[in-house]
Amino acid sequence: MNSHAPKLYTIASGKGGVGKTSLTLNLAATLAKQGKRVLVVDVDTGLANADVQLNLKPTYDLAHALSGEKHLREIISPTPYGFGLIAGRSGHLGLASLNLPTLTQWLNELRELGRDYDVILLDAAAGIAPPTLLMAAQSTATLLITTPDPSSLTDAYALLKLLWLQHGAANARLVVNLATAREAAQVHTRLNTAAAAFLHLPPVPLLGQIPACKYFAQAVKNHELAVAAFPASAALVALAAVAKQL
Ligand SMILES: Nc1ncnc2c1ncn2[C@@H]1O[C@H](COP(=O)(O)OP(=O)(O)OP(=O)(O)O)[C@@H](O)[C@H]1O
Ligand SMILES: [Mg+2]
Repeated sequence: MNSHAPKLYTIASGKGGVGKTSLTLNLAATLAKQGKRVLVVDVDTGLANADVQLNLKPTYDLAHALSGEKHLREIISPTPYGFGLIAGRSGHLGLASLNLPTLTQWLNELRELGRDYDVILLDAAAGIAPPTLLMAAQSTATLLITTPDPSSLTDAYALLKLLWLQHGAANARLVVNLATAREAAQVHTRLNTAAAAFLHLPPVPLLGQIPACKYFAQAVKNHELAVAAFPASAALVALAAVAKQL
């Protein structure tokens, strides 16, 4: 058991569909392979689907813990990739049904439970809803996922702005998905230029860039993780580099 609290990372994005769940699960598998004890929590309120991507049918999920039927410890499912998963329940409000003080208490319980783990990854809902901002602000770091698409970058900026203005949190680290190294560098400069000019924020570090990879879709169709099936692909090598920095 750890004497220290685990590192807690919220994987967040302004815009939806930019790769949060794919990156969370593949990152978890990569970290587990590197010997880390990893727990993934699907906190995508209402639209949970991490278990679907893994082709798991967990007996218990977050809704069982929130209703008091089960303790958090009892709802962790093992995965074939060496990390634990707390599944969400699709169509259930989940953490969005909690008021913010209760959510803070829940996060503390999760950290306490997480003493068995080195790293906890929270796969958040897209957008800037108050529960997402709170979880991100209270994390060791927020992995802010965007693509080079201008609307995705604008929404990432909005999330960064609210984290700072509402919570005083400057814990974001940028991951640019579906991008070449050159595109990621451009996105990074744009985000930091705007954040410095309008928010006077210190620069957000670029944690990494993940190229587009045909294996992601193929893996999802086969209900497996890309990192397990195609570990040598450029995207997954890049992801391993991101994992090393966590
Ligand atoms: N680097 C990549 N290369 C190719 N396809 C990718 C890559 N990253 C993600 N995808 C694909 O993009 C789609 C959306 O990914 P994912 O579900 O992980 O996004 P998300 O941000 O979790 O979405 P949501 O906001 O709905 O939760 C999936 O079909 C996934 O396979
Ligand atoms: Mg998702």
